[in-house]
Amino acid sequence: MGKITAAITAVGGYVPDYILSNKELETLVDTTDEWITTRTGIKERRILKGADKGTSEICVPVAQEICRKRGISPEEIDLLIVATVTPDMVFPATANVVTDKIGAKNAWGFDINAACSGFLYALDTGARFIESGRYKKVMVIGADKMSAIIDYSDRSTCIIFGDGGAGVLLEPDTEGYGLVDSILRSDGHGREFLHMKAGGSARPASIETVTNKEHYVYQEGKTVFKYAVANMAEAAHDIMQRNQLTSDSVRWLVPHQANKRIIDATAQRMGLPEEKVMMNIQRYGNTTGGTIPLCLWDYEKQLKKGDNLVLAAFGGGFTWGASYIKWAYDPK
Ligand code: UT7
Repeated sequence: MGKITAAITAVGGYVPDYILSNKELETLVDTTDEWITTRTGIKERRILKGADKGTSEICVPVAQEICRKRGISPEEIDLLIVATVTPDMVFPATANVVTDKIGAKNAWGFDINAACSGFLYALDTGARFIESGRYKKVMVIGADKMSAIIDYSDRSTCIIFGDGGAGVLLEPDTEGYGLVDSILRSDGHGREFLHMKAGGSARPASIETVTNKEHYVYQEGKTVFKYAVANMAEAAHDIMQRNQLTSDSVRWLVPHQANKRIIDATAQRMGLPEEKVMMNIQRYGNTTGGTIPLCLWDYEKQLKKGDNLVLAAFGGGFTWGASYIKWAYDPK
């Protein structure tokens, strides 16, 4: 019997119904559809409306779709990992909330906080549990309700982010399908340029932090952009080299959807034409942990067994990386 790899055997996704268009943003801040489209590629994003609705409300339909498509009951899930920076609460983990809501009685779980690279970190972590031989069904979800931490009077951030999420089921494979390799990196120095100032233990919530709007995303966009272009492209290029992949043998680039210009630069470094690049930023914006699995969800019908996929991300932390996946099934 061959070595155990973690194959993706099902994909699920969810985006809320409410569409926040560039046109509507024009009524909230001093911006234009033209500026947003040319600088980011985004036309609209989804917003989760309703009181007391957190990221778990996105994860639940994702988990249910995965179970339905794979024909399993939630009780068969061994482990749930949720990649998010917008957990329902600081604690317990959103994974705990989700396992309870879907009736995954036999699962344990935890959250991973790695911002826009969260899904890559979580996927690689989940794969280790499968490869150990002890776990048969590991669910990995990336989801964020970014609207909870966005200041809709700040034109430099509110035009970028949206709510949504998606996920995958990992199961053991002995024919080499699934996650083959990952390059994961971080540099805490980058926290200066992208973070949320208050609400953690260093600066707990107070009247002052609320008045100062310190519970929103703070981003120095230009600096983040510069690091994102360099590091995401580099990681994607390195994973190709390390696995003897060429621009011909890579079928899909599955990039984090932060800015179309960052995606284009990554594809260019890899020598890939536009047709090989998954792109849905125009419809969902940047859903942080959700972007990469949402691409897999949107493009699932076009994926064939044996396709070589390179996933790549860059985000807050800084965190970044790339993963190489051999797709495990044909469209159903
Ligand atoms: O996913 C997590 C990681 N995050 C990222 O990867 C995001 C990386 N950064 C970016 O995508 C881009 O930096 C942004 C989309 C955030 C901004 O685009 P940019 O081309 O870097 O613009 P900028 O910040 O350099 O601003 C250029 C100009 C400024 O005006 P002046 O100073 O030249 O007069 C801004 O005030 O554009 C102005 N501006 C806007 N104008 C209209 C900034 N935001 C807006 C806006 N509408 N929404």
